[in-house]
Parts: sequence; structure tokens; C-alpha cells
Amino acid sequence: MQVPCPLRLVLAMLVPALAMPDYDYGWKDLGPTYGRSPQCVDIPEDLRLCYTVGYHRMLLPNLLDHETMAEVKQQAGSWVPLVHKQCHPSTQVLLCSLFAPVCLDRAVYPCRWLCQAVRDSCVPIMEAFGFPWPEMLNCSRFPEGDVCISTNATDTPPGTPGHVSICPPCVDEENADSILEHLCASEFAIKSKIKKIKKDKNDKKLILQRRKKAVKLGTLKKEELKKITELYLKNGENCDCKQLENSGSQYLFMGRTAGGRYLLTGIHKWDKSNPEFKETMKRMKNFKCPQYESVFK
Ligand SMILES: *[C@@H]1O[C@H](CO)[C@@H](O)[C@H](O)[C@H]1NC(C)=O
Ligand SMILES: *[C@@H]1O[C@H](CO)[C@@H](O)[C@H](O)[C@H]1NC(C)=O
Repeated sequence: MQVPCPLRLVLAMLVPALAMPDYDYGWKDLGPTYGRSPQCVDIPEDLRLCYTVGYHRMLLPNLLDHETMAEVKQQAGSWVPLVHKQCHPSTQVLLCSLFAPVCLDRAVYPCRWLCQAVRDSCVPIMEAFGFPWPEMLNCSRFPEGDVCISTNATDTPPGTPGHVSICPPCVDEENADSILEHLCASEFAIKSKIKKIKKDKNDKKLILQRRKKAVKLGTLKKEELKKITELYLKNGENCDCKQLENSGSQYLFMGRTAGGRYLLTGIHKWDKSNPEFKETMKRMKNFKCPQYESVFK
């Protein structure tokens, strides 16, 4: 259960607005800006962010000025993890309204209130991963009014991470595909044990034992690996992380550096008796990560 159920698009009051000659906001007249007119193309299956969004054709160039499908895929890929976190049921619609705008004779921006609803639910989760809400999704850039993309699935259902206190890095699914995807999106991954768990202001701090093994060094140098003695669960003071119950075992820790600290972005028990974990380890050896710059960016 990775993607919210089929999302229905509501184009509020589209018809009257189409009759208007000019509209200051909400529309983006793609034609003249690009030197080539926008095309309506199929959403390819490997544009995973949007393949399941609920419609099948999209405009290219899109609203983020990506001109080729390759560029769209490359940029969209890093957002898939945010959708998987299910911080808000409309995250996918919001992102896809920009990455893969629905085919109309002009592209329509998402509604500001939709953007705000998603932002308010997802900011804590993005913060947990050390990312600010990006300028690309600055809600004040989107129209308040009549012509905009919206859905009717705007209430965050109870039980999603935005509402309950499960630490976002701990909600990973225990299956090989999502662990590998997450691994690719992490800057580093290590195998180690936890010595102690402490609270630190609003965060939880995991103090690691000295012995560590790099699973993925990423941008870190080998010497820097030694310096990772603490991993922070940002804003995690009171949240639940089921992986940390009986914390005596070895773990696969995934993380990134942010604000001069090492943030925990994913955690799995290093459990070879778990078939999915074993499968993950096996596939990891030859796994080629797609070339994302980083998660959520
Ligand atoms: C968002 O965009 C508005 C208008 O373009 C700008 O005034 C504002 O500073 C931006 N907000 C952030 C947080 O960057
Ligand atoms: C959302 O829209 C769908 C179909 O248009 C409808 O079946 C559903 O009841 C609506 N949900 C709400 C909460 O309005």
C-alpha cells in the first residue's frame, strides 16, 4: 500500500474560466516561452511518481520547465519517497500537477489551499529528513482562485504519519524494493549497533558503538565514517520507532548530513533470518541506483 487510492481530479469551475480571454494566474501559457509548443504525451510507466496518479496523459514541457521526459523522470524520481511516506493523501496530485500536468489546452497550476494542506502535513516529515520545504512548492506561487488543480481527498486520515507520532524514518516498509530505493536516496548507510539512546532537545539521539561497517559510503570519506558516533532522529523526542524496541541487535542505518549533524533517515534490523532483508542484501551488491541528486530535491 504505497500510493493513496485513485485520486480524483477536480478542476474547479474550469468551463467558465476557459471562456475568459485572459487570466492572470492559474494558467501558464506554454507556447511562446518555449519555442516549441507543448505536447500531450502518455505518462510512461517508469515515471513512477505520476504513473498511478489517475490520468494517463501529460503536457510536456511541464510546469517546472522540464523539456524532455528524461528530465522529468530524473527530477521526479527523488520525490517518490515523500509520496510513500503518506504524509498527505494529495501529495501525489500536487506534485504531479507540476511534474506531469494533465492535458488541457493550457497547463493549470495546483490550488494554493491544496499546496498549503500538503505542506502543513508534510513539512514535519521533510524536516525529519533534514529538508526544507522547497521554493518550487512555495504555495504563494499558486492561485487562490477558480481555476486550479485540486482533489477532494484533502483531509489527512487519522493513522498517517502526519498525525500520529511514528518517527518518519522508522516507517519504512520491510521489502527489498523500498529498502533499496531508500538506500539509493541516502547519503550513507552503515551497519552497527546502538550503545545508547538519549533525548536531545526535541530530537532522539542514537549513540552508536565504535565498530561500524560502511554499507554505502556515498559522499562520505572513509575517515568520516569513524566520526559518525551519533545519529539524530530529528524532532523524534517523543515519537515511536518500533525498530528500536529491543535495540540490542545490529542495524542497517541510513542517513544524511544536515546542519553539521548526521541525521537518521532510515533504520532496519540487520536480520538475516528475515527473507526480505536477506534478499535486500543480496540484490544490493549489484544494485545500480538511479542518478538522483538527492531525496526531495
Ligand atoms: C514565496 O514566494 C513569494 C512570492 O513569490 C515570496 O514573497 C516569498 O518570500 C516566498 N516564500 C519563501 C518561503 O520563499
Ligand atoms: C470525492 O469524489 C468522489 C468522486 O467524484 C466521490 O465518490 C466521493 O464521495 C468524494 N468524497 C468526498 C469526501 O466528497
